[in-house]
Amino acid sequence: MVKVSVPGKVHLIGEHAVVYGEPAILSAVGLRTFVEAERSGRVIIKDRKRGFSEEHSVEEALDFARRASELWKEGKEKGDFSAVREHIRGDRFKLAAAGTALRMLGVDGGVSLQIDGDIPPGAGLGSSASLALAIAKGISEAYGVDSPVEEINRIGFEVEKLSHGTPSGGDNTACAYGGLIWFQKGNPNVIKPLREEVPYRLENFVLVYTGRPKKTTLELVSHVRNLDEEFRNRRIKAIGNATREMLEALKRRDFPRVKELINLAWDNLSELGLSTPAADMLIGRIREIGGAAKLCGACGGGIMLCYHEDREKLRKVIEEAGFRPMEVELGVEGVRIEEV
Ligand code: PMV
Repeated sequence: MVKVSVPGKVHLIGEHAVVYGEPAILSAVGLRTFVEAERSGRVIIKDRKRGFSEEHSVEEALDFARRASELWKEGKEKGDFSAVREHIRGDRFKLAAAGTALRMLGVDGGVSLQIDGDIPPGAGLGSSASLALAIAKGISEAYGVDSPVEEINRIGFEVEKLSHGTPSGGDNTACAYGGLIWFQKGNPNVIKPLREEVPYRLENFVLVYTGRPKKTTLELVSHVRNLDEEFRNRRIKAIGNATREMLEALKRRDFPRVKELINLAWDNLSELGLSTPAADMLIGRIREIGGAAKLCGACGGGIMLCYHEDREKLRKVIEEAGFRPMEVELGVEGVRIEEV
C-alpha cells in the first residue's frame, strides 16, 4: 500500500483571463486530497467521507475512460461538452480518472483506491484536479512506474478536460507542482515555479467559503465566452496586465500594490458578471477597512481570497459579516508521497 497526497489551489490572480492566453499566478493551499493505492486484479474505489464504494473489472474502467475521452472529442467538435459531463457526473469522475491514469501509465492490472481529503468540491479550490492527480500518483506508485511530476500533471490535465471541457491547465499544474506558480497557456504551456522570485511565505491571506456556486466552471467559462467580444477582451487584458504587475509587486514585497491589484482584478471579474450578492457584501466590508478580496477560480461563489496586513482585523470583519475565516497555508508542497 502507498499513500500519496495532493493539495488544492487558489488563483492569486488571473483566473478566466488565463483561458484567453493571459498569465495567472496560482498558489497551492494547505488542504489536501489523500489516496491510498494498492495493486489489485480489479478497480476498487472507496471514499470514506462520501460513503462511496464501487468495484469494476479493469476492462470496464478502461472502457469507461475511453468512452469519456471519445465524448470529449465529439464535444470539442460540437462546442458542447454536456455529453461527457453527463458521462462522468458525480462519483463517476473517480472511475474516469482511474481508467485514464491506468491507460496513460500503461499499467497492466487494476488498483484499489481509498480516497480521503478536506477540499470542498466546486469551490474554486481545484478539488477535481487534486483528486485526479492523487489517483494518478497513487496508481503510478503502487505499480512502481517512474512518473515525474510532468507526467502526473499531463494525466491530471487529461482528466480535467473531461470535467471542464477546455480548461487552461492552470489548476492541475498548481496542484501538481505546489508552491506559487506562474502559468500561461500556450504551445507549450509556460509553467514557472516562483521559488526564487517569491522566496518568502505569503502571510495575512485568509480564505472564506461564500457558498456553493450555482454554476459549474464549464458554465461560467462559457458565460464569459458568450459576452460581447470587445467588452470581454478589454477586461481580460486588464486582468492580464494586473497579473504581470502582481509578480513585480510580490518580488518587491510591495503589499499595498498587491492589494490594489487584487481589487483591480476583482473589479474586472465582477464586470464580467462573476460576482454574487454575498461576495459583493463581504468584499465591500473588507475594502472599507482597507483590505482586498476576490472570488477565486471560476467565481460565481465558492472560495474568496482576502488580504489585510492586520490579519486579526480581517478575521473580525469576516466573522461580523457572518462568514468563517479559514486559516489555510499558501505555497505548500505539491504531489507528495505520504507513506510507502
Ligand atoms: O474554479 P476552478 O478551480 O475550476 O478554476 C477555474 C479557473 C478558470 O480560469 C476560470 C478556468 C481555467 O481553466 O483556468
